[in-house]
Amino acid sequence: MSIANPPPLQPMLARLMGETTEKTPFWLMRQAGRYLPEYQAVRQKAGGFLELCLNPDLASQVTLQPIERFDMDGAILFSDILILAYGLGQNLRFDEGIGPILTPIRDLSGIHALNHSGFESKIAPVLETIKNLKRALTPSKTLIGFAGAPWTVTSYMIEGKTSRDFRHSKQFAFTQPDQFQILLDMVTDHTIIYLTRQIEAGVDCVQIFDSWAGMLDEESFTHFVIKPTQKIISALKTRFPACPIICFPRHAGLLLENFCQACPADAINLDPSVPLDVALKLKETHIVQGNLDPIRLLSGGPDLEKTILRWLDKMGNNRYIFNLGHGILPETPPEHVTRLAKVIKDHGIGNDALSK
Ligand code: CP3
Repeated sequence: MSIANPPPLQPMLARLMGETTEKTPFWLMRQAGRYLPEYQAVRQKAGGFLELCLNPDLASQVTLQPIERFDMDGAILFSDILILAYGLGQNLRFDEGIGPILTPIRDLSGIHALNHSGFESKIAPVLETIKNLKRALTPSKTLIGFAGAPWTVTSYMIEGKTSRDFRHSKQFAFTQPDQFQILLDMVTDHTIIYLTRQIEAGVDCVQIFDSWAGMLDEESFTHFVIKPTQKIISALKTRFPACPIICFPRHAGLLLENFCQACPADAINLDPSVPLDVALKLKETHIVQGNLDPIRLLSGGPDLEKTILRWLDKMGNNRYIFNLGHGILPETPPEHVTRLAKVIKDHGIGNDALSK
């Protein structure tokens, strides 16, 4: 088969592959969500958040909403990291104003109560969403698949809800290390299957969210964050060497260096606490993504613009993708995102364009 017109390379994918591009590509974590009235409308139609994640037509629609409004370079699949727990047969629901609620796993019997025989059929709607999106998206847009990192997903499975200090997860790990390892391995192996299926269905790159990486000491960080992440990267790179992998070890602090040395991800999303100088240094080994404080986006005004421009100017025209340092907050005025998009798009074409 001859390829007369090869598809134009996506700006975000080009940066992930280390190429220099004129404009800085951008997308925002949680770019589809409650801050958009059009999201609220579709969510209501779906009946609930989990129902929305499992409805390929509606999930595709909400994935595309921010791209239609703000023209981001990346579209992140609309789903949730806890779909993995649901796929493993754990009871999952999302309560309004509270968040995820799962039947907590606290011992071996809780692990045995899981039933992963239905895993493939439970994740099927998500793969259907990816296929829909692949058809609907402009070829210059990058479709981002994702999963939670094993530590973050396992900790939700143990806690049963969002936690302040993750004491049940840590206590489980410290008092029943063999059982904890069984659960962590089960999550890791299914994350590999889940991301493999997403890449087969058509995503252009994947991001691994380790939102609670920063809760661990060095020893635990090595075993619960680094080791499972290495296993996932190695399995995906063996099968899909060209598919970029972005890791987000949030609030890893001084352990970020250990993470970056040990995990051969293509790109790292930085949280807001990572200094600009550290980001510049990291560019030597990884593509950098991040790290605007979501509260600066919520706040808007001249401060927002100044902060965006400082990073754009310093990070230059390669090895950097603009993003937030954590998910967009539901109270964020959509006009602030409009402004952010304009500042990024106009960057480098003269400051006059920015004055209006
Ligand atoms: O980024 C995107 O636009 C894609 C979709 C996406 C969601 N969750 C949608 C969502 C992604 C990538 C996630 C990841 C996710 N989910 C993480 C990792 C990133 C992070 O934020 O730390 C975590 C820890 C979760 C688990 C989760 N899902 C929690 C704790 C909550 C409740 C908190 C909240 O914001 O309400 C959710 C719900 C959730 N996931 C919503 C959305 C849009 C809100 C659900 C709603 O519409 O009510």
